[in-house]
Amino acid sequence: MQIRLALLSNAGGSGKTTIAAHLAYLMGAKGFSVALIDLDPQGSVSLFCGLQRPKSNQTIAAVLQDDFTGDWPVVSLWQDHLDKVAAIQGEMGLVKSINELVLHERGAYLLSDRLADYPLPHDLVIFDCPATLGPLPLIAVSACTHLLIPIQVEPKSADGAGKLLEWLYHTFRRLRLKPEPQIIGIVPNQYDQRLAIHRNILEQLEPSLSKLKINCFKPIRFSSEFKNASALGLPLHLYRPKHRATADFKPIETLLSKVLKERS
Ligand SMILES: Nc1ncnc2c1ncn2[C@@H]1O[C@H](COP(=O)(O)OP(=O)(O)O)[C@@H](O)[C@H]1O
Ligand SMILES: [Mg+2]
Repeated sequence: MQIRLALLSNAGGSGKTTIAAHLAYLMGAKGFSVALIDLDPQGSVSLFCGLQRPKSNQTIAAVLQDDFTGDWPVVSLWQDHLDKVAAIQGEMGLVKSINELVLHERGAYLLSDRLADYPLPHDLVIFDCPATLGPLPLIAVSACTHLLIPIQVEPKSADGAGKLLEWLYHTFRRLRLKPEPQIIGIVPNQYDQRLAIHRNILEQLEPSLSKLKINCFKPIRFSSEFKNASALGLPLHLYRPKHRATADFKPIETLLSKVLKERS
């Protein structure tokens, strides 16, 4: 069975697109087929994965239209290195979709409906969401089987994560999702262990998440090489394969492999 992982957070810049793109690469490198769907009108996936801007009828916005007939606009990613990883691009047309989703009788379930009516063949589908908790994250939540929440390490992180979890549990009930998506964990990002404030925040975050029975992944360290890699449309693993931060994805990668193998 297909795993659908949504990357969600209520803050911009927490690393959703970075982590989504890296996981797409890493799981592809392990031999799984992956589709990375960009649900952000800013279209950051295209930028971070080195893709040309899409034509407006070749994006996820077209998939959400009522006249969609199953021709998913997939484009290959990093094809010199991988053969089973693709993206479905997002762009400003999604802003129009937001208004349409609000009025549509199946609005919150539209992406889930599309994936049921016209299944994608991939083992893993990853949804990269925008930062606001509006109609686009909602369609990702109702279509996903699993959720991953990146947060930036800052004084308000724990509070922000708590609010997001509350919103999620409320949304699961309101949309009557059965089974409910599984929250695989929170991943602190842009972590600098030299900073006492970062170490303190992490020390406080871990027990408060464990009380809520939420997994806290090992943090992904801060490195300006992430920006340099994404500027070339590459994951760090292709740009600087030996960089220490490449190892920080290992726990998420291992868990996802396990979930994918259990489901197959
Ligand atoms: N671990 C990291 N270290 C340094 N910079 C990072 C890291 N993760 C992401 N970034 C950078 O931070 C910015 C925001 O990340 P992004 O993935 O776009 O966040 P979001 O999708 O949540 O808005 C980008 O410029 C990205 O290159
Ligand atoms: Mg993003």
